[in-house]
Amino acid sequence: MNARERYEEFYRNAMDNKEAFWREQAQLIDWETPVSQVLDYSNPPFAYWYPGATLNLCYNTLDRHLEQRGDQNALIWVSTEVNKTVAFTYRQLYEWVNQAAAVFRQMGVQKGDRILIYMPMIPQAVVAMLACVRIGAIHSVVFGGFAAHALASRIDDATPKLIVTADAGIRGGKIVPYKPLLDASFKQITIPKPNVLIVHRDLVPQSPLGVGEWDWDQEIALNARAHIPPVAVDSRHPSYILYTSGTTGTPKGVQRDTGGHAVAMRASMKHIYDLRPGEVMFTGSDIGWVVGHSYIVYAPLLTGATTILYEGLPIRPDPGIWWSLVEKFKVTIMFTSPTAIRLLKKNGPEWIQDHDLSSLRYLFLAGEPLDRETHRWISSTINGQVIDNYWQTETGWPILTNHAGLGLMATKFGSPAVPAYGFDCHLVDERTGKPVKDNEKGSLMIKPPLPPGCMTTVWGNDQRFLDTYFSRFETLMYATFDYAMRDEEGYYFIMGRDDDVINVAGHRLGTREIEEILCTHPQVSEAAAVGVTDAVKGQEIVAFVVVSRDGAPPEGKELKDLISREIGAIARPKEIYRVAGLPKTRSGKLLRRSIQAMAEGRDPGDLPTIDDVAVLDHIKKAIEATHD
Ligand code: PRX
Repeated sequence: MNARERYEEFYRNAMDNKEAFWREQAQLIDWETPVSQVLDYSNPPFAYWYPGATLNLCYNTLDRHLEQRGDQNALIWVSTEVNKTVAFTYRQLYEWVNQAAAVFRQMGVQKGDRILIYMPMIPQAVVAMLACVRIGAIHSVVFGGFAAHALASRIDDATPKLIVTADAGIRGGKIVPYKPLLDASFKQITIPKPNVLIVHRDLVPQSPLGVGEWDWDQEIALNARAHIPPVAVDSRHPSYILYTSGTTGTPKGVQRDTGGHAVAMRASMKHIYDLRPGEVMFTGSDIGWVVGHSYIVYAPLLTGATTILYEGLPIRPDPGIWWSLVEKFKVTIMFTSPTAIRLLKKNGPEWIQDHDLSSLRYLFLAGEPLDRETHRWISSTINGQVIDNYWQTETGWPILTNHAGLGLMATKFGSPAVPAYGFDCHLVDERTGKPVKDNEKGSLMIKPPLPPGCMTTVWGNDQRFLDTYFSRFETLMYATFDYAMRDEEGYYFIMGRDDDVINVAGHRLGTREIEEILCTHPQVSEAAAVGVTDAVKGQEIVAFVVVSRDGAPPEGKELKDLISREIGAIARPKEIYRVAGLPKTRSGKLLRRSIQAMAEGRDPGDLPTIDDVAVLDHIKKAIEATHD
């Protein structure tokens, strides 16, 4: 059998013998109450995987490896920001997680309570995540690049009992405050201020603790001998919430279960990523995003592998840094974003080729479109296999991929290959819902039930889960919000989002959230934010604002600062244009695509429904004036 036939057989088996297939995968995990039934799908599209079975996620990532690999490294922290490398064995990580779990318990955290984690890329962040799931608490990690407003809305929605943070982070040698941003968010929250546990880093002087604030090191030291038995939870008990952006201004809390999640993570290592126990994985991402949750933390540790947690930039102190880590730690599987590779490409192949990369089996790239040129360049530079994989926060693991664990099929540049086992992908006409032909653009939909590991609902809002993802057509189908095309050989090509999500350097951002913040400025009456193509980051943000006449109009910098302060520097627009009006339909709907076209210097196209044609001219002039 060749790789294609092996894949076909594997995929068909997963679809046609769903129960047997996922029962077999479940054996990759240790259960407290063993699996009997595989799937309860009595309430579509809500899938309840492994009903009645119980397990503990932390036990599966740490305890069960102690006997065989207690002295093997579990986590290697490399910080090029503070010039430190610290390795933790499975046993050391286990001890530390037990101590943290004891601290959480002492602070009143019970099974089902939420803990919000707002931290830089330090080992305590991973320890906090694992300590949460050890006691059945639910973590909600908020990306450290987010600021006050973004944090406040997530705190309000997750209602955490405890927040774990650090007093400072550091990026590109510049110290970034964390605690002051958290304090700023507390001024905006509508719930009582939760307790705060603070990791002090020697980057800033230690501030005195306020009411309800605790010092991580002190509390851990007090619990140095603590051992907290892992709490077995029902398979569907939420393991975590991770907020992501969509069409509306309020981020959605993607809720993930425990049993399906554990099985999906471990199985993806075997069949897709081909990472074996004892090997080393390096995922250059952030724990605040889904790639970090899945492939820095859970999947490698569930596998008994070593994971590298990297704090720093891919090009500092020089563009060879990541590749020196591959050489030094004999990394077998590496995973990062196309943007990181495009950044390296600008610096030349010699930085990469100077290193012995013989340990590296595969490099996986995901999070945004991987252009053909970059794919070709990195494949020849490392002289190895580079695998584009397509997925979402909602799914937690690849929807489309080449399966390294089954043997690679031929690579087609520009394509993340074929559906992963368990994903029933359909391309349909966006208006009629009817299937499109080969080589025709359609909306990418997934027929439920979604496989194990995918989101089970929107945190606290089942209706929003249904309305957001399953209401597009009469038949129940999960919408990915991406356009795609399939060629006659079954390879998919992703053609961009069909909603208001933009993707800056692999970071998913909602335009509405940005617009809402711009409109909080007293003189901004209307705003539109769009993504424009950028050679390195994929997309950049450009905003248009209509300002009221009274008072001096705000400077672009003032508005950019407002975004950095409230959402975070990652959402800072590259350009903000002041315009007389925004193009809308007669019924008042913003013509976002025409604004985007103009921002990219393209023709806005024919707009028969536009309310006032003159605004287009004004927008064009505003853009031209800035570029003169
Ligand atoms: O538009 C797709 C794009 O990123 C979106 C999901 O982003 P996020 O929730 O942050 O999850 C990232 C997990 C890797 C998708 O809807 N996207 C992700 N991977 C690819 C991609 N677009 C093209 N090619 C990819 N490989």
